[in-house]
Amino acid sequence: MSTPTDRVRRADRSSIRVMFDLAERHDGDLVRLEVGEPDFDTPQHVVDAAARAAREGETHYTSNAGLPACRRAISETLAAEFGVRYDPDEIVVTVGGMEALHLAVLATVSPGEELLVPGPTWPNYETQALLADGSFREVPMPAESGFALEADRVIDAMGDDTGAVVLTTPSNPTGRVFDPAACRAVVEAAADHDAYVIADEVYLGLTYDGAAEGIAAHTGHPDHVVTVGSCSKAYAMTGWRLGWLAGDGHLVDEVTKVREATTACASSVAQHAAIAALTGPKGPFEEMRRAFRRRRDLVVDRVAEIDGLSCPRPEGAFYAFLDPGLDADSLSVATYLLEEHGVVLAPGDGFGETAPERLRLSFANSLDRLDEGFDRIEAGLRAY
Ligand SMILES: Cc1ncc(COP(=O)(O)O)c(C=O)c1O
Repeated sequence: MSTPTDRVRRADRSSIRVMFDLAERHDGDLVRLEVGEPDFDTPQHVVDAAARAAREGETHYTSNAGLPACRRAISETLAAEFGVRYDPDEIVVTVGGMEALHLAVLATVSPGEELLVPGPTWPNYETQALLADGSFREVPMPAESGFALEADRVIDAMGDDTGAVVLTTPSNPTGRVFDPAACRAVVEAAADHDAYVIADEVYLGLTYDGAAEGIAAHTGHPDHVVTVGSCSKAYAMTGWRLGWLAGDGHLVDEVTKVREATTACASSVAQHAAIAALTGPKGPFEEMRRAFRRRRDLVVDRVAEIDGLSCPRPEGAFYAFLDPGLDADSLSVATYLLEEHGVVLAPGDGFGETAPERLRLSFANSLDRLDEGFDRIEAGLRAY
């Protein structure tokens, strides 16, 4: 009998997915705080631009790297908003940040090499390393410093077999924004090892305590950085599947060549939507970011009020990584909170081995629902 390869069978089913399926099967009123996407719809001017493009016949393949106008819009946005400079021909428009990360790992991790990621970490990097026939190594960051990036720990873990290091800032699941000096130190060490840093900056447009700079903006070795971004989060466009990879021209050319055989190009209509999002009115996106900041403030206040509960202050993205202060595994606690108290959180063991006792809360939900969610969490923890 033929069997699928180990390469695809090795990948685990994440416990986040387990919670999602439990929630979908549940009949009662649930406060869903496990979801990793904005609750806002894509602003109207973006939808109109895409509809117009489709009506006007922009329905064909684009070049593998993407429409020149879309690459230009991405280049100008990265420079204006994050101080990161890439020429349009150093940018590939991808099917979400996800494809950009997959291509980045394929292009930087050779078979047998390691992909290093500070923990806690978003789970898909591990699958991407396996698909590249590489291996995955999580380097735990200490809970005492709120999972801030400690460059020395990452640098100590690097060796001759390091292909790339992923730095996710703002972080999923912690919401932390990494210190620029720590990022720079990791990039410099990566350059010494002839390795790359993959800067996963899909949440960089959502920061709440000051302006954000991209990692490639503040390093002496920009050719060792691959920048990944996306319209999904800051522009409320998860379903359009539109992201980008930016980097050294040589790497970008190789990536563009192989993606001919995978997705060929990002959707033409979605690329027109992205042009409208990146070059059109900014008001609707600023309004969303203000809403996320208000929710972040509510999360910080409510966590401080609940006995035994704590989390690092979320500085970006829309996640809080809660320590419930219980001596129990997070999947059981999350299942209990769902079944007995009607609130859904993502178990920490879905984010690597660094902090399996934690629970990730997404504040991509209204202030009222968040308040209700915290009431339920409070009641649930008290009764546990
Ligand atoms: C850390 C991180 N990187 C990348 C992505 C990919 O997002 P997309 O493919 O929608 O751009 C996500 C989505 O949840 C994410 O959380």
